[in-house]
Amino acid sequence: MTTAAPAGTAAEELIRTLPQSFRWGVATSAYQIEGAAFEDGRTASIWDTYCRTPDMVHAGDHGDVACDHYHRMPEDVELIGSLGVDTYRFSVSWPRVQPGGAGPVNAKGIGFYDRLVDELLAKDVDPWVTLYHWDLPQELEDAGGWPVRETAYRFADYAMLVFDKLQDRVRDWTTLNEPWCSAMLGYYVGRQAPGRQNFADAIHAVHHLLLGHGLATQRMRAAANPGHEFGITLNLGTATPASDSIEDREAARRADGLGARLYLDPLLRGRYPADIVTDLADRGIELPVQDGDLEIISAPIEVLGVNFYSGHVYSGRDEQGNTRDAQGNPIDRQIPQGKPVTAMGWEIVPERFTELLVRLGRDYPGVPMVITENGSAFADVPDADGFVEDTERTDYFRQHIAAVAAAREQGADIRGYFAWSLMDNFEWAYGYDKRFGIVRVDYETQRRTPKRSALWYRDTIRQVRSGS
Ligand code: FCB
Repeated sequence: MTTAAPAGTAAEELIRTLPQSFRWGVATSAYQIEGAAFEDGRTASIWDTYCRTPDMVHAGDHGDVACDHYHRMPEDVELIGSLGVDTYRFSVSWPRVQPGGAGPVNAKGIGFYDRLVDELLAKDVDPWVTLYHWDLPQELEDAGGWPVRETAYRFADYAMLVFDKLQDRVRDWTTLNEPWCSAMLGYYVGRQAPGRQNFADAIHAVHHLLLGHGLATQRMRAAANPGHEFGITLNLGTATPASDSIEDREAARRADGLGARLYLDPLLRGRYPADIVTDLADRGIELPVQDGDLEIISAPIEVLGVNFYSGHVYSGRDEQGNTRDAQGNPIDRQIPQGKPVTAMGWEIVPERFTELLVRLGRDYPGVPMVITENGSAFADVPDADGFVEDTERTDYFRQHIAAVAAAREQGADIRGYFAWSLMDNFEWAYGYDKRFGIVRVDYETQRRTPKRSALWYRDTIRQVRSGS
């Protein structure tokens, strides 16, 4: 059993147990903020295409302009500096840097990130690069996308273009953001680009994403100056059985297996989880592993990035009590825990965050963790000046950062925390309808206004750093 983090003042006290060396950051991703979708040689990614497919994205929203960060980058870096964070996690747009996903680097595209890195360093903020946050060049999807092995090699080539240009100033490198989302939401559920719906394709995508991570890490490390840190970011939650029944326990096992262990085990133990391999075989699906792949995938990393938003309870029965769906597959149904929810409908369960982190530290020891994303969407109401008194979001941060501190006290090696997100942005299929920012963006004027949560975050960082 793990001990949950308390709320209120007790949470603030717990947060102050974090070490002065703890890293504090804010995070974004390219397609969600940059805009300038077809400028300076950038070509379409699967998200440009998906957004133009009717009924896929809320209100037909797209990232053509987004937060116009491409044109407002120096002011945005100024803003980041004013929050007192030491790290800015951003992603690089593959089709901006390598239009069409093949060939040489696009000087204008990489030039943008080159300037961004310099601006950050001038403000004493460390750049933390994510190489892939879901924007696959459309041409690579047309050639088969992540279900095809070749895409992994293309990713490693692209990674090297970015690495060659920025490694002299960037120490922290994340290969992929949330491969579960790329594979499962993109190729099975269809709620993210490219919007395909084929389970076998999704499973093939899992392996090729992980292979791409391994190949890119291997090549970057071979070319790296000393001191670089490489890693991958996974979206992880918890899977708790709704009851002690065998069906519910099996449902939780499958959810944890497909959601977490299918990534953690090959990356950190060099093998796919046997129970999930068997489950897949029952469905006639095999992971497309070739000789040597698992050595590549499990090459050591310096950091595991953890993104956490919620944890879930699973039942092995549908509402009618069936244990199998129409296709004969077992049911894994998430059931509500009766907790308050965010605007996404995600239950607020900071105690599950502690549980997850303690478990990761226990089951996968030896890899330091950084929380590369955590945050919440709420229906913000700005005052006449655009200021948002976002009490609920602030509470969410307070409880979840305390949950991190609680996990550290219970032995988990967590080195940093990055708030999702620096500013309101294009929330994928939810378009601009859902706001996760600690800074409000008025999309009409592109005005940025720090919310209460941003001020709280800044003050909290200051307190922890000063040890007061
Ligand atoms: C994560 C994504 C991030 C953002 C948050 C809310 O899954 O990595 O881009 O959409 O969810």
